[in-house]
Amino acid sequence: MDVNGAAAIVTGGASGLGEATARDLAAQGAKVVIADLNEEKGKAIADELGGVFVKVDVSDETQVQAAVDAAVATGAPVRVVVNSAGIGWASRTVGRDGSPHDLASYRKVIEVNLIGTFNGMRIGAAAIAKTEPVDEYGSRGVVINTASVAALEGQTGQVAYSASKGGIVGMTVPAARDLAAIGVRVNTICPGIIDTPIYGEGEQADEFKKKLAAPVVFPKRMGTAAEFAHLVRSLIENDYVNAETVRFDGGIRFQPK
Ligand SMILES: NC(=O)c1ccc[n+]([C@@H]2O[C@H](COP(=O)([O-])OP(=O)(O)OC[C@H]3O[C@@H](n4cnc5c(N)ncnc54)[C@H](O)[C@@H]3O)[C@@H](O)[C@H]2O)c1
Repeated sequence: MDVNGAAAIVTGGASGLGEATARDLAAQGAKVVIADLNEEKGKAIADELGGVFVKVDVSDETQVQAAVDAAVATGAPVRVVVNSAGIGWASRTVGRDGSPHDLASYRKVIEVNLIGTFNGMRIGAAAIAKTEPVDEYGSRGVVINTASVAALEGQTGQVAYSASKGGIVGMTVPAARDLAAIGVRVNTICPGIIDTPIYGEGEQADEFKKKLAAPVVFPKRMGTAAEFAHLVRSLIENDYVNAETVRFDGGIRFQPK
């Protein structure tokens, strides 16, 4: 799928992996719609890229619909949805003090990470379905979802986060099957430890990141957001990759802690 001249919606596009993806898609000639909670950063990036910013909570139907409507309103055919908005959470199923995991925070992580991703995919794909196919096979567009290697080997305290990301991995195949009828491919990326603002900034954050990256097999460092964007580009460009979940992690396998 060639994104030049197409509209692309990037949730979470105001920071980290989403921002790098928005920049990469714009560099390829896409009209990018950044759908994010962070208005200040999102608007600045959209302006810089000649794109559009829409303030969106991905778990809200109306707000995501507004972002997709903004993509349609650009006049460029909507061909790409990259779901990158997400939040982290650390809490054990039963804490050291004996109290059970707070249910409201569990719900929140599922709501943003899993339901938010599904929301972006379903509303975005419905817009892609209205475009003209680009080839004789009926290809219309691509959805890329962002899970995590925590979906596959969640660490202690990652029960909510892993469940939310595992849900994204779990819906990849059925969503690709559902959306085949309208010519939309679906692929999911499971990043390992990628250097983004999600880990905070400053000396303490740098120490923490060093510790996190220590078990990476090769190359011995964190991944970069630009490398993530490069993988997104490959998955969009290569028409034969579909219903796939790809690890993007320098070979890391998470240990229990
Ligand atoms: N960085 C990593 O190492 C890593 C590893 C595995 C998975 N991931 C996943 O990649 C995605 C991007 O992470 P990142 O590292 O770029 O983080 P980040 O914090 O830099 O960016 C996340 C963006 O999502 C936005 N966001 C959060 N909640 C939102 C909501 N409800 N609605 C709309 N926007 C919302 C934030 O405003 C922010 O701009 C997340 O889903 C994260 O779980 C990241």
